[in-house]
Amino acid sequence: MSFTADRLLLFGATGDLSQRMLLPSLCALHADGLLSPDLQIIGTARSDLDDASFRNFARGALEKFMPADRRGSMGVFLNRLHFQPLDATQTEHFGNLAKAVGTPGQGLAIFLSTAPSLFEATIAGLVASGLTGPTTRIGLEKPLGTDLTSSRHINDAVAHAFPEDRIFRIDHYLGKETVQNLLALRFANIMFEPLWNAAHIDHVQITVAETVGLEGRVGFYDGAGALRDMVQNHMLQLLALVAMEPPSSYNATAVRDEKVKVLRSLRRVAADETVRGQYGEGAISGKAVPGYVGELGQPSDTETFVAIKAHIDNWRWHGVPFYLRTGKRLPHRVTEIVVNFRPVPHSIFGGPNATGGASTPPNQLVIGIQPEENITLSLMAKVPGLDREGLRLRRVPLNIAMADAFAGPQRRIAYERLLLDLIEGDQTLFVRRDEVEAQWDWVDAIRSVWDAGGLAARPYPSGTWGPTSAIALAERDGVTWHE
Ligand code: BG6
Repeated sequence: MSFTADRLLLFGATGDLSQRMLLPSLCALHADGLLSPDLQIIGTARSDLDDASFRNFARGALEKFMPADRRGSMGVFLNRLHFQPLDATQTEHFGNLAKAVGTPGQGLAIFLSTAPSLFEATIAGLVASGLTGPTTRIGLEKPLGTDLTSSRHINDAVAHAFPEDRIFRIDHYLGKETVQNLLALRFANIMFEPLWNAAHIDHVQITVAETVGLEGRVGFYDGAGALRDMVQNHMLQLLALVAMEPPSSYNATAVRDEKVKVLRSLRRVAADETVRGQYGEGAISGKAVPGYVGELGQPSDTETFVAIKAHIDNWRWHGVPFYLRTGKRLPHRVTEIVVNFRPVPHSIFGGPNATGGASTPPNQLVIGIQPEENITLSLMAKVPGLDREGLRLRRVPLNIAMADAFAGPQRRIAYERLLLDLIEGDQTLFVRRDEVEAQWDWVDAIRSVWDAGGLAARPYPSGTWGPTSAIALAERDGVTWHE
């Protein structure tokens, strides 16, 4: 049923995500007139706050996490906020919550960003208090389980109260502008699609590198690790968008149907196709940083780095490896997709190994997602000159910096887009149950391979690109990671 919610209920309203992302995003949407004047936002958490103290709390978060020039109408925005304390394990608390929500004119959007252990109790409380009717939709923040079994358990509990078309599973990478631009690049231009296959692409690399370490997330991260925290969701979504067949239209069903086909075509990974790593002491931007175990305060084998050679078993990608790597405490923050094309079939200039500057290395397309949003296509060009010593060629970049090409439009953080889509009910950028389960299925198999082989996390110094075996993983195929 299509409706624009006029009540937004935020679970975990005093949490880190709320302060850094949700409240600033809502305030920005408000400032730009994108929220209906009727929209009321009800925050809930265990904290013993009332409307006034929650508004103060939100003001503090906005002042800390929102650029000053975007806070113009903060005062009016704060008036939309209300608060109702709640212990999600106490079903009777939900009665007061329902009273605080009141009767929406159009509908209710719920955003659940709480510990997964509270999901079932929360859903039960929502059902008991009548907050799950046909004009309620629910957004679920990760982590949605720790493996396929626990994810199914959560999905079943949610499905008990909401049909799939009212469940919005968040993967915030899908809210990123450049990730959506990947679809525009592939499907709004004629020149890529004919080349986008095994006949013309040699391999693809996807890197999500972070410089941050544990960031105080001790309780959560050590039980998760990089495979579950980053590969299971963000990296597999990027891979699916790169590899999927053209959907028939840009809508939730068509796009998600194509993504899930890719996810289901992922081949089981062999033991020698993965590398686990854990950062040790080192330096980031010249500053000394402690190792993971030092930050954690106890021994641990949790991986903070993963590299995987993945294969998609279908016609389009037969024999094309997808090299994935992600890690914390790497030299710099970068998320990028690198598409490496095959060499020209016959070089009239002397072939790929020609000397004298006439070699023809293959074209490369680099899609920069963050921090720089740019698309760079490397092309071969002739070095100007009279060529008395033979013609010389050089790789030159055809570079589109999105910030220059679109200097006008406001750059928006992922949660602005996702919250607005949740309020308005567009599921295209949310993950469907079958996708999540296909993702877990593949990731669980990797964990089993690790367990069976007793694959320990190999140490790497902070500020380096992971264990040397990650470099070897690509280099034994003659591939160099793009840096
Ligand atoms: C989150 C992970 O989903 O994504 C974090 O839990 C990670 O560990 C974060 O730091 C990265 O997101 P972004 O948008 O900063 O790339």
